[in-house]
Amino acid sequence: MKIAFSEISVPATGTLIVGILAEGELTATAQAVDERMSGALSKAVSASVRFSGKKNTTLLINAPAGLDLARVLLIGLGAPKDIDKLQMQALGGSVVGGLNKMGETVASLALDAPDGCPLSPEDMAAEVAFGARLAGYRFDKYRTKQKEEDKPTLETLTIMSGDSGAAEAAAAPRQRVGDGVYLTRDLVSEPSNVKYPAAIVEDIKGLSAVGIEVELLDEARMGELGMGALLGVGQGSRRDSYIAIMRWNGAADKNEQPVAFVGKGVTFDTGGISIKPSGGMEEMKYDMAGAGCVIGLMKALAGRKARANVIGVVGLVENMPDGNAQRPGDVVTTMSGQTIEVINTDAEGRLVLSDALWYTQKTFKPKFMVDLATLTGAIIVALGTYQAGLFSNNDELAERLTAAGKASGEELWRLPLGARYDKDINSDIADMKNVGKGREAGSITAAQLLERFVADTPWAHLDIAGMAWMKRGDDPIVPKGASGFGVRLLDRLVADYYES
Ligand code: BES
Ligand code: MN
Ligand code: ZN
Repeated sequence: MKIAFSEISVPATGTLIVGILAEGELTATAQAVDERMSGALSKAVSASVRFSGKKNTTLLINAPAGLDLARVLLIGLGAPKDIDKLQMQALGGSVVGGLNKMGETVASLALDAPDGCPLSPEDMAAEVAFGARLAGYRFDKYRTKQKEEDKPTLETLTIMSGDSGAAEAAAAPRQRVGDGVYLTRDLVSEPSNVKYPAAIVEDIKGLSAVGIEVELLDEARMGELGMGALLGVGQGSRRDSYIAIMRWNGAADKNEQPVAFVGKGVTFDTGGISIKPSGGMEEMKYDMAGAGCVIGLMKALAGRKARANVIGVVGLVENMPDGNAQRPGDVVTTMSGQTIEVINTDAEGRLVLSDALWYTQKTFKPKFMVDLATLTGAIIVALGTYQAGLFSNNDELAERLTAAGKASGEELWRLPLGARYDKDINSDIADMKNVGKGREAGSITAAQLLERFVADTPWAHLDIAGMAWMKRGDDPIVPKGASGFGVRLLDRLVADYYES
């Protein structure tokens, strides 16, 4: 699907989409079309009992003979003063979804910025384009026999606005964020026989094309650094483990202290010797979604040339049962020197992150670290698939993340940390154990372990187990499957608080 920009006109083909304001008030383009349709449009609006221009409602009108257009799709904008960015993204997404359902190939959307609308016309256009792009994502590379009727039809969506040059310019950085979301969704959608750690490393190396510096730690180097926890998780796999470091130096001052994002990249999680039940185990291909987000985020930030110094670190391992796999009860020594008793080999994400977080903070001394991980099933029990869990040792960082979540539509809900939860991971024979007390507070005790690998850096942990993969498909800009969760959120965080 191509997204194009033009000035406002009544196009000659396909579907024309026009906004209708609250109380059925026609926008300027709607009025122009109404005249060409001898009043059929305004008649349809007043005749409809369900459609009154309320936000997110639609009404489809077939264009009468004499007009070249096939049909006009009316879309409710609500009251101009309430129009916001997320609404415009959802509008772009719903339009793409709806047009594909009706089998349309070309469509144009007229955005007359109404009086009193807080968004500039070019921002409206940019957000619609962003939503359209996010909604247009497909992962069809492994389908060789797709039926015609199952393929998306929409070829071109033209977004018409007062100043198409300004709209296109405003849309460009959002489209680069879209590129990042697409990369994350691709990486997370790919099966684990294709995207094992070394394969993801190759994709990461490809980011040097957009100006990202890449550095790798292989198993030998991680051994020298003493990363026994990360290496222990990977030791049952035939695939080599890696840490990959991506660096984007976009700040005016190249020596400015960076911000850092750290991702759990378990390319498949069988559970190891504490093996998972087979029903649903295929879902564990997305256990690298934290890393996938960090990789897509780096691409987004570099793509839009964010004026910030940013480090991305991903721990890439496969958790397999094998003759060489670690056993329940094994004790591993982390890079920090602290020891962990591995009670359950399925609580592996925290082991990977313990070394990745320690390494990141010691090596880069960042302003803050945010890690993302599909860490616990318990966070899905707590928050479902609507918000990710947020844990932090720093109120300012937590508040900024929460605000960026609201602004981006990728929302976070903060859960507590504290000494009483922390003591639940004390071990009888090592510094700590990798699980708490049974099922109690499972997401919190996991976060407590991570916190033990944060010295004095502001840090936040996002448990995205419920958000990385969407079974619902009811969000117009997040198709079913890999969501790309976190890219839009963290791009917003950087844009709103950390750019020079
Ligand atoms: N990768 C899983 C968590 C997960 C569950 C992610 C469902 C996405 C969807 C993680 O490694 C895991 O296995 N966690 C265990 C921890 C337990 C053994 C303490 C869990 O949540 O059951
Ligand atoms: Mn696990
Ligand atoms: Zn896992």
